[in-house]
Amino acid sequence: MKAIMQLQDVDKSFGGVHAINHLSFDIYEGEILGLIGPNGAGKSTCVNLISGVYAQDSGTIIFNEKKLLRQSIPDRAFMGIARTFQSPRPFEGLSVFDSVYTIALLYNRRMKDAEKAAQEILELTSFSSIRNLPCSKLPIEKRKWLDMARCLATRPKLLMLDECLAGLTPTEMDASLALVRRINATGITILFIEHVMAAVTKLCHRVVVLNEGAFLSQGAPLTVMKETAVIKAYLGEDYENVEN
Ligand SMILES: Nc1ncnc2c1ncn2[C@@H]1O[C@H](COP(=O)(O)OP(=O)(O)O)[C@@H](O)[C@H]1O
Ligand SMILES: [Mg+2]
Repeated sequence: MKAIMQLQDVDKSFGGVHAINHLSFDIYEGEILGLIGPNGAGKSTCVNLISGVYAQDSGTIIFNEKKLLRQSIPDRAFMGIARTFQSPRPFEGLSVFDSVYTIALLYNRRMKDAEKAAQEILELTSFSSIRNLPCSKLPIEKRKWLDMARCLATRPKLLMLDECLAGLTPTEMDASLALVRRINATGITILFIEHVMAAVTKLCHRVVVLNEGAFLSQGAPLTVMKETAVIKAYLGEDYENVEN
């Protein structure tokens, strides 16, 4: 399998906090990889290092065979790296269509192409019928979808979703998982960060487990979650008694 993203011996500290500790893992092209671990394990820091918010102190990050270090956030976005934030930030003044179209204009040479791309994205994300609604009127779960739609307008190869299900009801969560699957089916590789294990096992082809910034385990979701080290570090002693 071809790796689209490789972290090799990556290290990052914030003052005295060793957030990422000599971490190595690959993201394979086309997969949905779950990145899990307890609070503070370094999941969001991984996203920030890959998307260019921070630079690693040492180690190598490779995207599509290109080393990432000095490229800015927009450079990396143009290379095909997209991410959502834990708290969505819509363009309050714009309609649903315009907020996707505005970004599509930056990533398409012709206005016609940008318009077509925005329409296709609204179709995929089930926004077509409310395309003229102001973003500020969207409920929270739809704001998360709009965040994904705006990411799609950057024509990503890798989409990193950082806790995009937090605060959703089970029904909203299932609809969101279906959306992530549809996005993945268009050929976009997904890095999926989530606390709800039922969602991770339903969605992810593979998981990587972090603990205190270091690699702990990887493999098929159900297999990894049965490992003693993972249960101890993350899931807690009670986990074995919980169905999901
Ligand atoms: N900008 C920052 N400044 C200082 N400490 C940070 C910063 N970002 C993350 N950290 C610390 O790095 C560690 C990993 O955080 P984070 O990547 O957010 O974990 P996770 O997303 O897995 O919950 C935590 O101890 C956190 O407090
Ligand atoms: Mg986080």
